[in-house]
Amino acid sequence: MIGSLLRNQSAFALFAALLTLFLPFESAGAQDNAAHRQCSPDGRLCFVLTTADQKAIYSVDRDGNPVIDASQLGFMLRGAGKWGSGVELGDAVRSRVDETWEQPWGESRLVVNRYNEMRVPMTEQGRTKRRIDLVVRVFDGGVGFRFAFPEQAQLAYVMIDEELTEFAISGEAEAWWIPGGEWNRYEYLYNHTPANQVGTAHSPITFRRKDGLHIAIHEAALVDYSAFWLQRIEGQRFRTRLAPSSQPWKVRREAPFETPWRTILIGEDAPALYAASDIVLNLNEPNKLGDVSWVKPHKYVGIWWGMHLDKWSWNAGPKHGATTENVLEYIDFAAEHGFGSVLVEGWNEGWWSESGRNFQFAVAYPDFDMDRIAAYAREKGVEIMGHHETAGNAGLYERQLEAAFDYYQRYGVHSVKTGYVADAGMVLREDPDGTEQWEYHDGQYMARHHVLVAERAAEHRIAINAHEPIKDTGLRRTYPNLVSREGARGTEYNAWGEPPNPPSHEPTLLFTRMLSGPFDLTPGIVSLEGREGRPIPNTLARQLADYVVIYSPIQMAADLPENYAKHPDALAFIEQVPVDWERTKVLAGEIGEYAVVARQHRGGQDWWIGGVTDDERREVPIDLSFLPKGKRYTAEIWRDGESGGIDRDRFSMVRETREVRSGETLLLTMERGGGFALALRPAE
Ligand code: NOJ
Ligand code: CA
Repeated sequence: MIGSLLRNQSAFALFAALLTLFLPFESAGAQDNAAHRQCSPDGRLCFVLTTADQKAIYSVDRDGNPVIDASQLGFMLRGAGKWGSGVELGDAVRSRVDETWEQPWGESRLVVNRYNEMRVPMTEQGRTKRRIDLVVRVFDGGVGFRFAFPEQAQLAYVMIDEELTEFAISGEAEAWWIPGGEWNRYEYLYNHTPANQVGTAHSPITFRRKDGLHIAIHEAALVDYSAFWLQRIEGQRFRTRLAPSSQPWKVRREAPFETPWRTILIGEDAPALYAASDIVLNLNEPNKLGDVSWVKPHKYVGIWWGMHLDKWSWNAGPKHGATTENVLEYIDFAAEHGFGSVLVEGWNEGWWSESGRNFQFAVAYPDFDMDRIAAYAREKGVEIMGHHETAGNAGLYERQLEAAFDYYQRYGVHSVKTGYVADAGMVLREDPDGTEQWEYHDGQYMARHHVLVAERAAEHRIAINAHEPIKDTGLRRTYPNLVSREGARGTEYNAWGEPPNPPSHEPTLLFTRMLSGPFDLTPGIVSLEGREGRPIPNTLARQLADYVVIYSPIQMAADLPENYAKHPDALAFIEQVPVDWERTKVLAGEIGEYAVVARQHRGGQDWWIGGVTDDERREVPIDLSFLPKGKRYTAEIWRDGESGGIDRDRFSMVRETREVRSGETLLLTMERGGGFALALRPAE
């Protein structure tokens, strides 16, 4: 109730004053604290921590205007009641950081990490005196805060039933979100609703206010804790709801420990919001793996789309896809066109068993000769990308992890796609005594599992691309072998999903899911056709644009080789487009409508630009002033033809070259559901 009454700081102070007047018994002796305020390096964004009615409350303002209204902080602790009443704030300890660090691979080589920090002890004044510190980092583009549980006798073993962190979005807003806690995990189309009609959502969730301010809520460094869903409490007030566990509590930790960072990204427009997403990376610990030169951004092909089309099967039998013969053909195709690896799904014993109980991660089907395949791949300069589908049986996978990675390491495999296909809440593990337990894909057990897999894989010099993963919270900074993941509705839905991904999907993803990190979208379906010839609502140029717009350091050319043979111009683009970038700029975009993204090739002078539109035809002016002054470039362009668009000729594509110069404006048209991709290479 407090929250709904308090829209801003002054209402808040007034309310606190009224409480002292009218509730003398409850607040006898209760003194609310003066506000602790911490602002960003540019001074525009401020986080305020205070108490009202002796409850810890924070708010965020920008240029003096509220962004997050007074929002409560607290925890429900198992066997220890609620933490959050009768709280007194201690002195703030402040510090600042201004550094630039280099990513081993990424959408930008250099990342600026600049923030002002305050750490404030929050201590209960009752008998218990339980203390939790709030650590706040304020960046120019957003805020991160987390709870640190110090070592203390009265709060040593912490069982969290619920975290009660609120986010009250200030000012009327609309929201883009997917449902949290539903059976299909993160694989939903985005809802676009008024903020006060959101139900329970996964993060990142993105809001746009009437005044155009963009706000995204997410978390960073999700380690040994449960992911949160955002539950709308009332109006535009949201509260964290932790993903459940098989135990009565949701999180169990031993103090001292810290929660993941709760992040609020803020941008004046959609491109600025995307730029602010570096904050998620900055809030993670630096690289713990040391030399990761074995993690190589690259493009891959694979025994994959054939199964989704139902041409092949994962399991052995008459339609088996992962036969030695098929894989050798894919290796030839990869070698001929410069792809770094061949993903092979359905190669191992155990497909498909209920809850993955029969999977064997180091035993190949008899018609898959790994010795021969690995030798042939080596000869051709191509690697195999391994595959571990678990059907959600993460426990079985953990028990076989060492053998599984050992097997692949022996065959020179440096990347493995993992998979956890199971309904939410149906991840299987066993207690030491063999009792089966069911977990959520985003509960504490799986947060631990994904870190365990990253660490074990690293020991074998293997990078991980997780499907049906836990959401990305920037852990790739700490474990740079976490190269990519799914965690959104990918291209498989264009084979068999009802409906397939609409053209608004990628312009939505860029400003929602992509704020969290790389996505293995698996683009490049040049046939524009799913199962049984079902049309994909995209154009050919649009499939190419996705390689630039949706970042992943490993990008698949997902279609069948015979389809690429029919579309040589498209294949030429896919062969050339880089996957590792010096810097990235979102040049323009509106959530769910369109996006234009420019990325400079890491280690090169060439820039690549991708544009995607929803089902509206758009002409977009591309201002080339970001290029070095006076320099001439040759633009190689792949764009929708004049007769193109989802409801006309989806294959109509023009490939052309033009001479351009910095400062010029390039005008390009995207037909309905279409897009463009282009390369700018220095002309001299
Ligand atoms: C779901 C994954 O997202 C997909 O890429 C994979 O082919 C299947 N699971 C089988 O593992
Ligand atoms: Ca999937």
